[in-house]
Amino acid sequence: MSRVAAEIGPAGGLVRHARPVSGPSTAALTVLEREIAAPGDGLDRLRLVPTPFVPEVSLLLAEDAIVWWARMEAAAGRALPPPYWASAWAGGQALARHLLDHPELAAGRRVLDLAAGSGLVAIAAALAGADRVAANDIDPYAVAAVTVNARANGVMVAATAGDLLDGDGTDVDLLVAGDALYDRELAGRVLPFLRRAASAGALVLVGDPDRGHLPTDALEVVASYPVPTTEPSVDSPVRRVQVLRPR
Ligand SMILES: C[S@@+](CC[C@H](N)C(=O)[O-])C[C@H]1O[C@@H](n2cnc3c(N)ncnc32)[C@H](O)[C@@H]1O
Repeated sequence: MSRVAAEIGPAGGLVRHARPVSGPSTAALTVLEREIAAPGDGLDRLRLVPTPFVPEVSLLLAEDAIVWWARMEAAAGRALPPPYWASAWAGGQALARHLLDHPELAAGRRVLDLAAGSGLVAIAAALAGADRVAANDIDPYAVAAVTVNARANGVMVAATAGDLLDGDGTDVDLLVAGDALYDRELAGRVLPFLRRAASAGALVLVGDPDRGHLPTDALEVVASYPVPTTEPSVDSPVRRVQVLRPR
């Protein structure tokens, strides 16, 4: 289990010491800690629950992410980013399951969880014995959620805000991305980043339920899982999810 903190340096590489979250992420952490202290009992609450396909990891998830989001926007009096971190996405669940079932993939490695959301995959990597784990997301609430979720699962994960996708992805042994190909524009930036990291020597693993932006010629399937999902607006309660790596 990872007990050593890491953070992401300016070039997107890992450096040794964790720093406390700051700025918008600190404000978001204050909000989440307030929510944890007074959770309420309606659809707009957050709850620490075992992840359906990865019960070894508990996450702070919304009972209904859309309803929670509406309450938070009303309280803030401004638009907030969609709370992707408040759901257990199918791609992340498959990838986290894969790491826990194949701990040799993460053990002793420096891991970066890209587009981390709740931090599920990062936490699984830490539980699998990673040396250092960083989790990156552009949403300050996701950075705060990674912080509380890592704490709840007793592991060290350095949560960082910011956009790394124009970097080279070096200084990482294992790069994981769960459900990061959900939108054409984002996929168009994530895939070259993954390729650069793989070219620099990283093992790259993607968890994806095929939301229409999966380049099957560029990625090969490593494993496939039937994943129960808590995502909002999904008709089927189970999605077939592939774990893939660059060819
Ligand atoms: C569908 S969620 C998946 C979260 C998590 N990986 C999982 O599987 O549960 C996608 C995440 O990508 C994040 N994201 C979007 N653009 C990003 C970028 N340029 N860099 C890092 N994260 C980004 C979003 O904020 C969101 O948390």
